[in-house]
Amino acid sequence: MKTITVNVSKTYEITIGAGILNEAGAIVRKAAGGQSAAIVADDNVSALYGRRLADSLAQNGYRVTQYVFPHGESSKNAETFLSIINYLAEEKLSRKDVAVALGGGVVGDLAGFAAACYMRGIRFVQIPTTLLAAVDSSVGGKTAVNLAAGKNLAGAFYQPDAVICDISLLSTLPGEAFKDGCAEVIKYGVIADRALFESLRTPVHTQLEDVIARCVEIKRGIVTEDEFEGGARKLLNFGHTVGHAIELLSEYKISHGQAVAAGMAIVTRAAVRMGMCEADCLRDVLQMLRRYELPENTPYEAGRLAGACLSDKKREGDGLTMIFPVEIGKCVLKKIPVSELEAVIRMGLEEFS
Ligand code: GLY
Repeated sequence: MKTITVNVSKTYEITIGAGILNEAGAIVRKAAGGQSAAIVADDNVSALYGRRLADSLAQNGYRVTQYVFPHGESSKNAETFLSIINYLAEEKLSRKDVAVALGGGVVGDLAGFAAACYMRGIRFVQIPTTLLAAVDSSVGGKTAVNLAAGKNLAGAFYQPDAVICDISLLSTLPGEAFKDGCAEVIKYGVIADRALFESLRTPVHTQLEDVIARCVEIKRGIVTEDEFEGGARKLLNFGHTVGHAIELLSEYKISHGQAVAAGMAIVTRAAVRMGMCEADCLRDVLQMLRRYELPENTPYEAGRLAGACLSDKKREGDGLTMIFPVEIGKCVLKKIPVSELEAVIRMGLEEFS
């Protein structure tokens, strides 16, 4: 078991280990206190793990309630958000009580935003059940819902009181969902840690605890430096601007991890053409994406992708900050003027022969 402490506007612990769902009640009690705990989960995860979590919370003195909604990105909207808030009110949760997100990124983002808004903020614990949520979305306090105009356009920075990552829950993940998380793991290697990147030649599932802990440490370092994404935190968006555009254009039929994988490949190809990195960096990124059966491109054309990128919240007036690799383990931020965005994306779409 590993414990990583995050010290930002709130100090909290991320506990990573096998079988620790049974200890969740004790961890939540210590980190958040309160009398009532509202589990928020989707139908799939609730059926698998809801009862075990509820029992652990009840054994630690909580009155436990559970809000369950249909799984999938299409639930990550204002309607579900409002419905969770109304549920918390009907269940009479007080400011001292706790919402517990049990699930992947969609659940964590929705429950976190609801916890941030209900009574202007109640206690909140994340229990990620996907690799993607374990290494990224459960850590660092980003919460959000999608709007018709784009992904994550309404949300708040709201740090959890604890993150409990039971790696044995990840064993029930469908293969595609696990691959989604591998895309984010590869991202950490490219932006910050060549040794992590190299280690991914050994399959992630054989070294889960170490890989998750390393990704969380990298994220902790970045978020500690820049909690509210004024600068360094943007590095975490490597592949995400184009990735979010792909998700939006596919009406969220293409998953986040698949879209980010294609986004990382596109941005790296553009970086080579712009003289920012060597071809061997691109070769390594593409080989790693192939190793994890992740996409290297998208059929959407540059104009449509650029249009969708401009609805991304990362737009800043006349430009958009994109993240380009310089070498494996090091990326830089570069502001791309809106007028050049389509050309940059076109450079990234065109494959080398
Ligand atoms: N997922 C990127 C971040 O938390 O900043």
